[in-house]
Amino acid sequence: MGSLSKGESVLVTGGAGFIGTHTVLQLLREGFRVSIVDNLDNSVEEAVDRVRALAGPDLSKNLHFHLIDLRNKEALEKIFSQTRFDAVIHFAGLKAVGESVAKPLMYYNNNLISTINLYELMGKYGCKKMVFSSSATVYGQPEKIPCVEDFELEAMNPYGRTKLFLEEIARDVHKADPDWRIILLRYFNPVGAHESGQIGEDPKGIPNNLMPYIQQVAVGRLCELNVYGHDYPTKDGSAVRDYIHVMDLADGHIAALRKLFSTENIGCVAYNLGTGYGTSVLEMVAAFEKASGKKIPIKLCPRRPGDATAVYASTEKAQKELGWRAKYGIEEMCRDQWNWASKYPYGYQRRP
Ligand code: NAD
Ligand code: WQD
Repeated sequence: MGSLSKGESVLVTGGAGFIGTHTVLQLLREGFRVSIVDNLDNSVEEAVDRVRALAGPDLSKNLHFHLIDLRNKEALEKIFSQTRFDAVIHFAGLKAVGESVAKPLMYYNNNLISTINLYELMGKYGCKKMVFSSSATVYGQPEKIPCVEDFELEAMNPYGRTKLFLEEIARDVHKADPDWRIILLRYFNPVGAHESGQIGEDPKGIPNNLMPYIQQVAVGRLCELNVYGHDYPTKDGSAVRDYIHVMDLADGHIAALRKLFSTENIGCVAYNLGTGYGTSVLEMVAAFEKASGKKIPIKLCPRRPGDATAVYASTEKAQKELGWRAKYGIEEMCRDQWNWASKYPYGYQRRP
């Protein structure tokens, strides 16, 4: 990917988080100026410091961090009034499915109000280019695979409903004012870490997602992995997902920005970011064992409610229109995630 930036300025919300940190690093390397807004609800400032260190002294001059909750519109407006942004990448949000079922209002409050504030201020300050973090969750329980962008959408839980609502809001924003250029990126299952092992995913508490859980078993923080479902109609009975390396995702955002800057009438358009390959839970366990040299003890358990049998992306549209495709397979995803896990078994925290 050739360098595209003319030093454009990008506001990255949620830039201290898992996908945000990896994307910010790539943006700096592409020559963008980056302002992060994050309330550190699910992240730590140390992650931003690591990004600075990886970027080096010259590029890290182009990175600014603001500890702000997006729901605090006044504080957010101050940032908009001080800096002219050419585009926004909007990662910030709560993302734990189970928690969203227990605390739906917290999810609606955080994810919807934050985003509405952001659109209002972007409109007011004339920045009408948005890349939004959507999710494969909007495909619900897909009847067919691979998932194609024009499938009917469905929400399975309050978290998924926030993504569905926010996609609809984006379409309405564009309909009301065609000057807007909006790309909705539907991520499949982001895993892995930066190849340096200096940044990676660091969930608070017991992980909900498969790969962070496996990682914590491998480093001895948890004793065994519960495999949810072994009677699915798949190759080995476990569920199938489309795992994608977080660095591929980061590059997908650069491709999306390139598209926004170069396409006048793009409108509001959705793209899948996945590899197009399905991998089962048991295959993922085997790949991580191989990469880490550690045995991952498993316990076969009943299916997790709400889980689909198999989900993977059609990658055609992103390939054709964004000129982007994933480079890495599960071997590299496990290698890089293990590199991060073995260097920092307790993530950004010190060992308790
Ligand atoms: P993350 O939790 O690591 O990062 C999100 C960041 O947003 C955190 O740093 C958090 O502190 C911040 N944040 C949350 N609410 C905020 C608010 N009101 N104001 C300011 N900052 C706020 O999550 P991630 O995995 O990097 O995910 C980024 C985005 O991608 C999210 O919108 C998520 O829903 C979406 N997504 C993630 C996955 C995944 O599996 N990781 C899959 C599909 C979509
Ligand atoms: C993958 C597979 C589990 C944990 C979720 C969200 C989705 C998106 C990505 C944000 C499933 C199995 C898991 C464990 C297991 N996030 N599993 N033992 O459910 O595909 O997607 O994250 O948008 O919205 O729903 O990912 O990593 O939770 O699960 O057996 O301890 O691993 O049952 O089959 P999922 P996941």
